[in-house]
Amino acid sequence: MRVLVTGAAGFIGSHVVEALEARGHEVTGFDLRCGDDVRDAAALARPLAEADAVVHQAAKVGLGVDVADLPDYASANVYGTAVLLAAMARHGVGRLVLASSMVVYGEGAYDCARHGRVRPGPRTAEDLSTGSFEPRCPRCGAGVLPAAIDEDARTDPRNAYATTKLAQEHLAANWARETGGTAVALRYHNVYGPRMPRDTPYSGVAAIFRSALEAGRAPRVFEDGGQRRDFVHVRDVADANVAALDGGVPGTPAVYNIASGQPHTVGELAAALSAQHGGPEPVVTGEYRLGDVRHITAAPDRAAAELGFHARVGFTEGMKEFATAPLA
Ligand code: UD1
Repeated sequence: MRVLVTGAAGFIGSHVVEALEARGHEVTGFDLRCGDDVRDAAALARPLAEADAVVHQAAKVGLGVDVADLPDYASANVYGTAVLLAAMARHGVGRLVLASSMVVYGEGAYDCARHGRVRPGPRTAEDLSTGSFEPRCPRCGAGVLPAAIDEDARTDPRNAYATTKLAQEHLAANWARETGGTAVALRYHNVYGPRMPRDTPYSGVAAIFRSALEAGRAPRVFEDGGQRRDFVHVRDVADANVAALDGGVPGTPAVYNIASGQPHTVGELAAALSAQHGGPEPVVTGEYRLGDVRHITAAPDRAAAELGFHARVGFTEGMKEFATAPLA
């Protein structure tokens, strides 16, 4: 297939390009770092005229530091995707793979002994400041157990980035229904691996810990370190994109969790990276960030059944490589 990859020079995009080329696809890269902006319909015309599919990785990432970031997120992620979809329709490109995120869910899924599956709201500053980190049942206040989230779960985007990722999914769904195109959105869990960008105010925890170790500083583990995430290797995420190009149904938008299926705690992440890097040892600080969710882990079954996607890089092996792999 002739595939246009937006964000091709980025962390995940660059691995997607490699994976597509390895499977014999003909790839054209499109990236702001090379002066190509998805918000510029004229710049898209030539590459789209020669494409069978678009893999859309270009986005402003991170969580959004404060409301001052809203216009930039909306512009890059929402407006940019809208321009891209309109241009795809104009050029008759009928297949889209979209990079989405598990952040569209907000807090993960939990099971309450009395009320079954529940979705707790945000934790309060009072709870967090007194070390009460676990969410409680929103109906009876009892303790709950974390469960893997599936794609039918209600979405609850809690920041600028999450809101724009969900908006991208909705725009892609509109496009698919109206044009009969095939749109597959991939909800990435916590992606890590070689060429991950260094520590910035917008970085995820794996990049922050890895950058700290490189600078000889201890990873600082917030809360009590028991927060659960699904850390999925970037080469697996790239493979999921390749698989998604053959998936989906025309006119019917699809979403998939892209995860390893093997949840780990943030404390385990810090310990693994520190050990593989040769120290320093992590410090559990008890600090908290008000907007953080406690646990969010995925049921990867739908991507396995419908896309044939199975993550191959295990946590121990992946972290061993990541502990010394070059950052971007
Ligand atoms: C992250 C990304 C999000 C992405 C999602 C899925 C960021 C900021 N977040 O969300 O954009 O869509 O993964 O790939 O890029 N923590 C520490 N120490 C630190 C920093 C964080 O212990 O120095 C803890 C946090 O308190 C939190 C956990 O690590 O409990 C994860 O934090 P983070 O990676 O920032 O956010 P996610 O919610 O996982």
